[in-house]
Amino acid sequence: MCGIVGYIGKREAYPIILEGLKRLEYRGYDSAGIALYDGNSIQLSKTKGKVVDLENRVNNEIETTGSLGIGHTRWATHGVPNDINSHPHYSNSGDLVIIHNGIIENYASIKKELIKRGYTFSSETDTEVLINLIEDVKKNEQVKLGKAVQIALNQVVGAYAIAVFDKNKPDEIVVAKLGSPLAIGVGENEFFIASDATPFLEYTKKAIYLEDEEMAIVRLKKGVKIRKIKNDALVDPYIQELQLNLEQIVKGGYEHFMLKEIHEQPNAIKDTYRGRLNANKGQVRMAGIDDNLEKFLNANRIIVIACGTSWHAGLVSEYIFEDLARIPVEVEYASEFRYRNPVITENDVVIAISQSGETADTLAAIKLAKSKGAFVFGVCNVVGSSIARETHAGAYTHAGPEIGVASTKAFTTQITVLTLIALKLAKEKGTLSHSEFHLHLQELELIPDKVQKALQSDAHIKVVAETYKDAKNCLYLGRGFNFPVALEGALKLKEISYIHAEGYPAAEMKHGPIALIDEQMPVFVIATKKGHYDKVVSNIQEIKSRKGKIIGIVTEGDTEVKNLADHVIEVPETLELLTPLLTTIPLQLLSYHIAVMLDKNVDQPRNLAKSVTVE
Ligand code: G6P
Repeated sequence: MCGIVGYIGKREAYPIILEGLKRLEYRGYDSAGIALYDGNSIQLSKTKGKVVDLENRVNNEIETTGSLGIGHTRWATHGVPNDINSHPHYSNSGDLVIIHNGIIENYASIKKELIKRGYTFSSETDTEVLINLIEDVKKNEQVKLGKAVQIALNQVVGAYAIAVFDKNKPDEIVVAKLGSPLAIGVGENEFFIASDATPFLEYTKKAIYLEDEEMAIVRLKKGVKIRKIKNDALVDPYIQELQLNLEQIVKGGYEHFMLKEIHEQPNAIKDTYRGRLNANKGQVRMAGIDDNLEKFLNANRIIVIACGTSWHAGLVSEYIFEDLARIPVEVEYASEFRYRNPVITENDVVIAISQSGETADTLAAIKLAKSKGAFVFGVCNVVGSSIARETHAGAYTHAGPEIGVASTKAFTTQITVLTLIALKLAKEKGTLSHSEFHLHLQELELIPDKVQKALQSDAHIKVVAETYKDAKNCLYLGRGFNFPVALEGALKLKEISYIHAEGYPAAEMKHGPIALIDEQMPVFVIATKKGHYDKVVSNIQEIKSRKGKIIGIVTEGDTEVKNLADHVIEVPETLELLTPLLTTIPLQLLSYHIAVMLDKNVDQPRNLAKSVTVE
């Protein structure tokens, strides 16, 4: 969480940093700040609130000159979001300035020591402790900034992506990374620093991604020098050519990123299976699987680890893997898995799912699984992300940048990748007949058009949203492949409209949630034609007899649920195991419209962040 941006070059740093912070705001938006240096004086401004609040403050408060600068958008960990706790932070002398994404876990003991030595602190942050530790080392050891940063980082425990500059060195920014991402954009006599590459896309397509435990001294004339933080070894910079385009990270005429991303799903799913799925030839080709086929075929079981929406995609895949490939699957919250001494063997295949590829708990769970000898396969969206690099092999979802904090296209593309893997394994294992295999490929190829059709119910979904927008609680029910969709539907509503919602397996309703049902309670029931339809219809009857409001997500042409429900929203027919790719669409739109009607900040819901790089 938190976004960091830096610039050193010939241009004015301010507009670059400000725009960069806007692009990184998905990472946190509790507060924002900037420090600019023109070689004479440092101009620093920071505020609680969003980057637009910072912009207003800067206009009234500071000069915006200087071709060196750093900026920060915060998701608070230590200290409430207020002006003082916002980054950047000065050292006591006022010479050093830092921005930081991450957590310094042993900050309290370091702070104690520094206070004994006369240091004072104005904020409650771990970051202010770190910059004063760097200053202390620099003074005591009589070393330059880079060395001081290195020595200080060897004393801290935790996670960080930092950028620091020194008033006495107007041509240099020092950066370092452990756990949180950090990219350096390499231009012509100019360098950019950012949590991801989006802030510098229009200036350069060349980027260096620092690895964990690496630091870099970025100098205007001498370029980038990378070292290992622990042993000081020099590292050859590996410069990557970025594939990302500017058009991919703007709203493109939509009111919100979330709406844009919902509508991108037909193409995103196509991009996910492009080059992998060939229905005519009856082929699924995925390099990460092809190269490691034996591992998958000999696996005792698959353990899926993920968080949030990615965990829901994992849960869908449990049903799919078991149904198609007959491999036992366990789906684990990464945060639980990593701390409960799990039983893992060399015969387990672990699949880690993550849109951002940066989620701290997922990353830690991967490291644990690797240490126990498991083969770890990543399903990530962000190319080159930490999880993509940490796993033994993987498959990208190719969904394009997802910026809305509530995940949408990541979910459907993750399910698409996982379905392709399950189909491939089913074919290899012979658990699916030749004709069934073909049928699944053909149906999967039709999904983008069917998603497009599902999106056409938007106007009707708006009417449903209007009807239920004032509900205080909602229930989401589904069975089988669509049970995880019920969880995901409830999560979407909670995240962006702040309405309490719960997802439940439909049959479990009678073991508790049924007590909540009265005429005030909207119940969204996924009741597609296949998938225990009759059982779900019985559950709907149970809700109806208790006067609950029923909104059915049904297969096109359904009449039975229509007769019982207050509203129905239709989705096209498909194979049962592919229905989550369609049933999830109206639930995304519904949450979106309710949040807009309630005047909530759809793309940046309170307290959340897109990329959770703290545990
Ligand atoms: C955060 C995001 C969610 C996301 C989860 C896991 O909570 O707000 O949208 O599902 O992290 O993120 P990942 O990037 O690992 O999929």
